[in-house]
Amino acid sequence: NSTQDTLIIGKKVIYLPTCHSTNDIAAEIVHAGLFEEGTVVITDNQVKGRGQRGTVWNANAGENLTFSVVLTPGFLPIPEQFLISQVTALAIRSYLGSYVADTKVKWPNDIYMNNRKAVGVLIENSLQGNRFATSIVGIGVNINQSVFESDHATSLARETDRRFSLAEEFRKLLKFLDAYYVRLRSGSQHDAIRAEYLNHLHGYRQEVRFLHKGNITNGSVTNVTTLGKLRVRLATEPEELEFGLKEIEWV
Ligand code: BTN
Repeated sequence: NSTQDTLIIGKKVIYLPTCHSTNDIAAEIVHAGLFEEGTVVITDNQVKGRGQRGTVWNANAGENLTFSVVLTPGFLPIPEQFLISQVTALAIRSYLGSYVADTKVKWPNDIYMNNRKAVGVLIENSLQGNRFATSIVGIGVNINQSVFESDHATSLARETDRRFSLAEEFRKLLKFLDAYYVRLRSGSQHDAIRAEYLNHLHGYRQEVRFLHKGNITNGSVTNVTTLGKLRVRLATEPEELEFGLKEIEWV
């Protein structure tokens, strides 16, 4: 199982009909030393998917894409690690944007189509000294799902009124991920990547709503720092504020 049309991501693909979490399998493969950069672990039936902030990710067997990519971004200084989130989000956004015009990145790296979440990303890094050893990029894309627990979730099928071949969409998405990662590796594109990320960011220079200190507040995103913090101007605060992952929520 491999693809010849990418440079790094997907040269080696490990397919498991069922597994607990592809991020966990990828971590086991890393520990066993059985990987090369760009190895992908994909499953049709992830029974114990993990989401951000310790949540559970349910992937509806056979309907969605659920996979993890092993990267070795040793070239990247640790304080610049948010670039991995940024290229991942941008690649997935471009891929979905080829089908649906209103496709946005919601900080840090969720992807929304027509204002509903279609993709979740969970990135887990391991360090060696002051460099990255590996970065496991876990991606769940709702492709053919038609029934949703939450009104805030959607799928590519729902937004386009079509059904898709998971295998074809997987190959297509890998090409986008590969192209953006190659761009990151080139080293000369960091500022361009950050600018592109802002361009596609939900709430950037636009009024949106946040949950801040228990209250729903209007505000807009003014920037995202190199460290990945969100800079926001809230209607209720005199100064622009900076938030880390657990410090603010979207409404
Ligand atoms: C989130 O939005 O909370 C992140 C969800 C990440 C889900 C993906 S599916 C593939 C990979 N394996 C996991 O256990 N989680 C990620």
